[in-house]
Amino acid sequence: MNNRFLDACWGKPVDRTPVWLMRQAGRYLPEYMAVRSRCSFLELCKTPELAAEVTIQPVDILGVDAAILFSDILTPVEPMGLKLDFVPGPVFENPVRTMADVEKLRIPDPESDVPYVLQAIKILRKELAGKVPLIGFGGAPFTLACYMVEGKGSKDWATIKRMMYAAPEVYAALMEKVTMMDMEYLNAQIKAGAQAIQIFDTWGGVLSPTDYEKYVLPYTTKLINGLNRKETPVIHFVKGSGTMLPTVQKAGGDVMGLDWHINLGAARDILGPEMAVQGNLDPTTLYAPHAVIEQEVKRVLDENACRPGHIFNLGHGILPTVPPENAKFMVDCVHRLSQR
Ligand code: CP3
Repeated sequence: MNNRFLDACWGKPVDRTPVWLMRQAGRYLPEYMAVRSRCSFLELCKTPELAAEVTIQPVDILGVDAAILFSDILTPVEPMGLKLDFVPGPVFENPVRTMADVEKLRIPDPESDVPYVLQAIKILRKELAGKVPLIGFGGAPFTLACYMVEGKGSKDWATIKRMMYAAPEVYAALMEKVTMMDMEYLNAQIKAGAQAIQIFDTWGGVLSPTDYEKYVLPYTTKLINGLNRKETPVIHFVKGSGTMLPTVQKAGGDVMGLDWHINLGAARDILGPEMAVQGNLDPTTLYAPHAVIEQEVKRVLDENACRPGHIFNLGHGILPTVPPENAKFMVDCVHRLSQR
């Protein structure tokens, strides 16, 4: 069993720096497109055997040190009562705008409402035995609420921000419900066999540090505190966290996911030796010639300066048009250049 990833999450020494890529199962892989050509994205998420198959693809093809369950952060939101589609970005037919909308939302029972997610985890633990650990994941309450209120992606997220400022009681009621859903969903993933949990707060960085502290931190903190995480490390990734790391750190968790807007060394100096970090290569580096990829991998490793508790990753998801051989080259570089 390759335990590098889990050891690094706990800050233990490792033989080489572990590496995986956010969104490592996806459209840049022809092997993924072959499976995807036979069904829709949602059907893929809801068919455990297929979800397990595409989860394992990057483990075999790239040689990464962890697998991440194939699903989406919005999968558990659908059974809350919102009609979900992907076109290819997520769209909710009936977004949440009023207190009545919030009151209608139900808190799903993971075992009966998203059984396919838990089944995929169980299949994967068998198929990954002796290989690499399995990461489960969920969206942070704020990022989920962003999609639930806007109904789709947005440049400025003005609809949810307006709710936050103009109808704070509606915003708070929604966030409470999403947090409860998330807690039950992630605990069910842990119970089914997920060996680490990543919380994706892709849009946390669209708020000022003051608003983040007031409108996001209490909910993420409650979520992380409510996870049965004694033996399961929690990775907290907030895109755009670089200017507010001490605040984001208050949410708890074992590993801070970093985007590329802060140097990894500077982030570690702020976070201190007790917290592990994950990141943080600019995802577009994977379009560069191999020599540049190698130089940038070395730069990130040098930023870490051999401190224990570093998991190499991109600073956000891999882009769909990246050549897979460049991703493989990056993974090989991390292993070769970090050999102790
Ligand atoms: O990392 C992995 O390999 C696991 C799978 C995974 C997906 N989405 C599959 C996916 C994970 C961890 C996610 C998380 C996710 N989903 C986030 C947080 C991470 C991030 O990237 O910021 C967000 C914000 C979403 C919501 C979402 N799902 C968007 C905005 C989109 C469309 C974006 C795009 O790239 O077109 C999706 C669709 C989606 N989720 C795809 C995949 C592989 C593409 C769907 C397809 O095959 O057509």
